Amino acid sequence: MKISPVHPRRWAVAATPVLLVLLGTLVSSAQIDLTGYWAFRVKDGGVNFFQLQQTGDNVASVPSAGRGGGRGGTLAGTLRDGKLHLVTTFNTPAPAPAAPAGQSPAPPPARRETVYDGVVENANRIAVTMQSTSRDPLTGTFERVTREEAFPVRIPLPELRDVPDNGLARTPPMGWNSWNKFQDVFDDATVRQMADAMASTGMSKAGYTYIVVDEGWTSGRDANGNIVGNGKFPNMKALAGYVHSKGLKIGIYSSPGPQSCSGKMGGGYQGSYGHEEQDARTFAEWGYDYLKYDWCSAGSVYGSTREEERGAYQKMGEALLSSGRPIVYSLCQYGAADVWKWGAKTGGNLWRTTSDIADRWDSMERIGFAQIDIAGYAQPGHWNDPDMLEVGNGGMTADEYRTHMSLWCLLSAPLMAGNDLRTMTEETKSILMNPDAIAIDQDREPKPVERLSQQGKSEVLVRPIGGNAFAVGLFNRGDQPAEIGFRWDALKFDTGLYGFRRLQAQDLWQHEPVQVSGDTYTATVPKHGVVLLRVSIASGRGEAFQASQPAAGAGPAPLTAEQDHQRLMDLLHITSLRPGADQRNPQGPNGVNFDESKANPYPKLPDPLVLNDGKKVKTAKVWWQQRRPEIVELFDREIYGRVPKDLPKVKWEVANTTSGTNGDVPIITKQLLGHVDNSAYPQITVDIQLTLTTPANAAGPVPVMLLLGGGAPPAGRTGAPPAAVGGPGRGPAGPSAQQLILAKGWGYASLSTSSIQADNGAGLTQGIIGLANKGQPRKLDDWGALRAWAWGASRALDYFESDKSVDARHVGVAGHSRWGKAAVIAMAYDQRFAIVYDSSSGEGGTKLHRRNWGELVENIAGRGEYHWMAGNFLRYAGPLHWNDLPVDSHELVALCAPRPVFIGAGRPIATGDGWADPKGMFLAAVGAGPVYKLLGKKDLGTTEFPPGETALIDGDVAYRQHGGGHTDLPNWPTFLTFAGRYMKAPREPNPPR
Ligand code: GLA
Repeated sequence: MKISPVHPRRWAVAATPVLLVLLGTLVSSAQIDLTGYWAFRVKDGGVNFFQLQQTGDNVASVPSAGRGGGRGGTLAGTLRDGKLHLVTTFNTPAPAPAAPAGQSPAPPPARRETVYDGVVENANRIAVTMQSTSRDPLTGTFERVTREEAFPVRIPLPELRDVPDNGLARTPPMGWNSWNKFQDVFDDATVRQMADAMASTGMSKAGYTYIVVDEGWTSGRDANGNIVGNGKFPNMKALAGYVHSKGLKIGIYSSPGPQSCSGKMGGGYQGSYGHEEQDARTFAEWGYDYLKYDWCSAGSVYGSTREEERGAYQKMGEALLSSGRPIVYSLCQYGAADVWKWGAKTGGNLWRTTSDIADRWDSMERIGFAQIDIAGYAQPGHWNDPDMLEVGNGGMTADEYRTHMSLWCLLSAPLMAGNDLRTMTEETKSILMNPDAIAIDQDREPKPVERLSQQGKSEVLVRPIGGNAFAVGLFNRGDQPAEIGFRWDALKFDTGLYGFRRLQAQDLWQHEPVQVSGDTYTATVPKHGVVLLRVSIASGRGEAFQASQPAAGAGPAPLTAEQDHQRLMDLLHITSLRPGADQRNPQGPNGVNFDESKANPYPKLPDPLVLNDGKKVKTAKVWWQQRRPEIVELFDREIYGRVPKDLPKVKWEVANTTSGTNGDVPIITKQLLGHVDNSAYPQITVDIQLTLTTPANAAGPVPVMLLLGGGAPPAGRTGAPPAAVGGPGRGPAGPSAQQLILAKGWGYASLSTSSIQADNGAGLTQGIIGLANKGQPRKLDDWGALRAWAWGASRALDYFESDKSVDARHVGVAGHSRWGKAAVIAMAYDQRFAIVYDSSSGEGGTKLHRRNWGELVENIAGRGEYHWMAGNFLRYAGPLHWNDLPVDSHELVALCAPRPVFIGAGRPIATGDGWADPKGMFLAAVGAGPVYKLLGKKDLGTTEFPPGETALIDGDVAYRQHGGGHTDLPNWPTFLTFAGRYMKAPREPNPPR
């Protein structure tokens, strides 16, 4: 009797018990033909499919039918007397076992063989024991299945489109994943213990947040098609609840294919194929915060083209978005089809760029150093993922693990620990929890790492990092200790080129300062090791760059930010400040708030149209003569600080003029230096760096947008024209802001704010603030860096007034993030500016100080950011509270009236551009409305917070949220439409201001 290969999905369900008995007695092995489709199932271990062909006693698998990521191998053997004996020969060698610490190269791969011995129960079911050289015997069953079950047909993929950014993972995700240590041999209890350990070891404090359950948790689907956990993971929802109770987030794992990659028997666990939306809803309902989505068997249903892979990932990306829960989306297809070019379009927050890492030097080294060329594709919300960490798993030396960690941090890679957190040595902890290395990884405005030099096996990698600093990694890939060095002046500090600056450097693994002297730095780096430095500009004088050092005299007071901050607290008689919002640990005691119901503890704002003496402002005259000066005084005294009287003059010099093109527009670019007269204190030199670009064939003076920026080296994104100093933040590929401006027939200028004033507390006795104070520290109402940058913007405008190519009555100012703050301050204080684009300026910019959302007063009063503000501002994070501020940010906007203001930010959802509080910025725009109306202008037109992408640009105060996270680029087209009402290129008559 020949049994047809097409059988019901589960014979046990379809066949009645009577039939079973019949089959059991009637079918003898001699009559059975195993030809057909079979599933090998292991309890709690997944499933693997075979297509078998029987000829006489001989049974073999049909070769092309292997599944499970192509690792299945080919089966061959016999069926005799009801006994099945099959042996697998593998197409690919088994992965080699880990080499002992420090040993390399890896030993040759072990021979692998898998033997299946089965006892035929009936024509549809065989009890099987699987023995393999690499693991303990497993018992399971061969069950006959349909062709469709074994080889599902391709379900059409959605049309390709760009999935909107979910706003998550603004810095590379940090957490733990089960795979590297446990593969699929772990359970619910293991995961809970890992969450416990994450909290108790300090890992969570260091920033590690996600506990990710990798392959091994599913059994299959219930009658309704819902994915379910297996015996080791009986209640995935309860597990999520437990992990959340530890203040952590939890991740889960699935595949766009029918099965995942590699269950115990070489097949895989249940995947999401054909159930994408249902699974996304399930994961959301269970409370999962992260999905790793692993290609695995998807290759058996889809083609391996970019379109197919993108479509398959888009399908789940869309499903996750519509699940309504913020879920970080981790793509895992091993870097195929240049995923870094399109992963973000599928909604991906991170994408694997390589095949799997192994706990061996050669694997980690090969992967890590291959990432540098694609580093420019990583950006907030969308990260290259060179795979999880192996630190602490025992296959590498401590030096090698430090290299691993240093590389991953320089690459802005996700930091997913892959070791057993319960049993970490102190050394492992010191590597995984090095706060300085993590700070590089988690830089909020990441720039790509670059290779500074490569000589034989020695490589120097550099990356500009926040605080006007550089991270420098000296890597020795060789097998002997090596001397590795670099020139200090290879670090292109924008300020370093102009006048004398001293550098300071810290060794981030030795945790001690290194001496900055001479032209170069050289260190002996151990075999496979690294020296990781943070180099920044110090206060005071030093030996580096001595050539350009001015004449002797008493130098500026050398205070660290910490010392200076303490000095201000002492002056204010404050012993402690409230801590800022903590975004790394949102569930912690100071966790950042993204809950609208808690966001407005002080909904009543100071009234911009009530004088200090309580009288109402009813006329424009009273506004201009009394109320506006009152508000300016309050901002001066309490918030941004006062610009000193009698500041030295600035003499502008055109350092050079070049012609070129941007896109296809011919341009003329002038590099300008604004020399600040330092004859009263020659120890400090301030040369303001500015570039001005105007269209070469302009018919007359053009409107100009002045772009404020830090002046870091241009980010190395492919396709983008090189940015001048300053300029907007990074955004998706496409025309740059500068090109959009040129398209209007206008010019643009870029101002390097750090050439005016360094962006850190240690620099306050330097720069223009230090020069005005002759190197002494600030008084409590002295200006901070933001006000100084805004002052510099005014000096740039002075220059424009003297340049015939510029229509100086139509100069706008723009900035993003901290430069958004400076831009709106420049607009508020200098009435010559015609318009402002304030992008994501947040706290210290146009976000209401009274709002409890994202960054708070306390954050910018802390050591890292207090230098932006007046010393007096610290009081509002100490004895006083937000509600004690006599003015709030809506009044900063009001100071710009009646001139047009455009305020923009990313999505307001908790995890998008939340840190900048888009709604708090919106409310400031609303709050300025009465002043605009008093001055005969139009307010925002609504008090309702609009949905994303709604352009409120009909009034003179405008607002729009875009979907791109913390970036200014998506709002440029809307801003320029708005600005076009006020500024025109020379051929068109200019409208009145
Ligand atoms: C693939 C992935 C790994 C892991 C395994 C599970 O190999 O790249 O990170 O998830 O699958 O089988």
